[in-house]
Amino acid sequence: MSEEFQARRAEGRRLADRLRSDAAEAGQPLAWFDAFYRAAKGDRAMIPWGHGEPRADLREWLARQSADQKKGQALDVGCGLGDNAALLAASGFEVTAFDISQEAVNWAAGRFGDLDITWRSADLMALPSEWQGAFGFVNETYTLQSLREPFRSEALKALAGCVAAGGRLFILGRGRHDDEPENPPPWPLLVSELAGLKASGLEEESFEDFMVTRNGRDVRHFRAVYHKLG
Ligand SMILES: C[S@@+](CC[C@H](N)C(=O)[O-])C[C@H]1O[C@@H](n2cnc3c(N)ncnc32)[C@H](O)[C@@H]1O
Repeated sequence: MSEEFQARRAEGRRLADRLRSDAAEAGQPLAWFDAFYRAAKGDRAMIPWGHGEPRADLREWLARQSADQKKGQALDVGCGLGDNAALLAASGFEVTAFDISQEAVNWAAGRFGDLDITWRSADLMALPSEWQGAFGFVNETYTLQSLREPFRSEALKALAGCVAAGGRLFILGRGRHDDEPENPPPWPLLVSELAGLKASGLEEESFEDFMVTRNGRDVRHFRAVYHKLG
């Protein structure tokens, strides 16, 4: 990362903090995402999660799945700039990718226009009814952690609802044990709330708890996979 890129990344973080807190004060905590993407004016350096490549912990996990497990309909949740959706499409899935921000969706579609991906603007809190039980694979990376209650519980139920019978839900993000401090934002995923997915008909297939070094600090992460009984 050049010094200039780092300076713009820092500016992006400050802008995100300001817009997030203004939106919360205005009683519309989800409204800042679209405003933020618009303010970034197509500059990926401004987007703290704009890595210009798919999430390494998703890519590494996908590489270990069989070709049979990488076909059929996949949903990419909170697609942002679209790198994970592109990876899913390249892996063999038929991908629908959505984000609450139309700006993000336009940006992602522009970057990956050569791929056969359905790009949609949609809110996890009010998903199209035809998505219920429609996806053999649902990918959620780092979106849940940008939401806090009451949205978080609703989002978890919505994610579980999109998974087809026999399908899988992949979750990757910051994690927190129930007795650890929160230090938000983002708001790390709690072990106990993920355990609650069982009530939505999902069985845990794997759960990894690991540290990622960010700016010289160890940050707990969870990578979890759930299976909906057929
Ligand atoms: C931290 S970014 C993560 C982007 C991407 N998934 C990744 O792994 O880099 C969170 C994304 O979720 C989107 N988002 C936030 N709330 C959402 C909601 N209620 N419905 C759909 N997308 C949402 C934001 O616009 C943003 O693009």
